[in-house]
Amino acid sequence: MLFPIAAKDWNTAFAPDIQTKATQRLENGQILFLPELAFSLLQDEKHFLSTQHADPKTKNISYHAERDKLWGVQRLTDSEHAQLKAFLSRYSHYANCLIKQLLPHYTGHLVMARTSFRPIQVSDRKSSYRKDDKRLHVDAFPSAPNQGKRILRVFCNINPNGEDRIWRVGEPFEKVADRFLPEIKKPWQGYARLLRLLKITKSYRTPYDHYMLNMHDKMKADDDYQRKANQQEVRFPPGSAWIVQTDHVSHAAMQGQYVLEQTFYLPVEAMQDPALSPLKVLEKRLSRPLIY
Ligand code: SIN
Ligand code: FE
Repeated sequence: MLFPIAAKDWNTAFAPDIQTKATQRLENGQILFLPELAFSLLQDEKHFLSTQHADPKTKNISYHAERDKLWGVQRLTDSEHAQLKAFLSRYSHYANCLIKQLLPHYTGHLVMARTSFRPIQVSDRKSSYRKDDKRLHVDAFPSAPNQGKRILRVFCNINPNGEDRIWRVGEPFEKVADRFLPEIKKPWQGYARLLRLLKITKSYRTPYDHYMLNMHDKMKADDDYQRKANQQEVRFPPGSAWIVQTDHVSHAAMQGQYVLEQTFYLPVEAMQDPALSPLKVLEKRLSRPLIY
């Protein structure tokens, strides 16, 4: 489930056999775990280890490096706004260095997406079941279809009080697909175009996105499944980092406060073994293409 990798520095040069193994393990649904990879905060950044700047309406504080845009925040002075951006930009740069060094097969194909800072205690967060990440799920987002691309995330626990981030990790994607795919109805003709037209989705919701989103919702809605599905608790201590493809690995965040996360998108064709992607797994089971 966890593939441990020794590194203390975000710019560590890895041996080719570690790079190959890390890529294989990741594509097979394991979590790359870097137990000694801390992200040490600068003096200015420690100021943000508080909940007061998170907008209560959103789960996370988000930053987009390319657009230099920060959202999900409140009560920031202009200078704090700039400092928080610099903090998240620094993490996004470190995460990018790590991925380049550890997963060089993906270089040139990865697209850098959102950086997020999660200052809210997970166990205190109240939300509808669909938004409740304490329930096992694979990642899929109603307004942001990813059209088959892999979701690769780099997390780092920066909790200053010694608190672990505690996850549950569920059964392999193939099992999840076998369990939930038969319950999901085909998308209606024209529905995706309507969602786009009404600006409910930011891009076209392909049949792949339809099935992934339905799997996400059905997993979270099923209390029996949440209790009985094969699962294991995993703890990520402060000062550790982990890399996971959250569209593939069934996960639930149960407890913890103060984590940084960088998202990347990866085209399926850039994988060493595209057959392992959720897209190919679903297409094989449904015997038809799901991206059009
Ligand atoms: C999630 O992706 O469901 C939440 C992960 C986390 O914040 O630890
Ligand atoms: Fe998730």
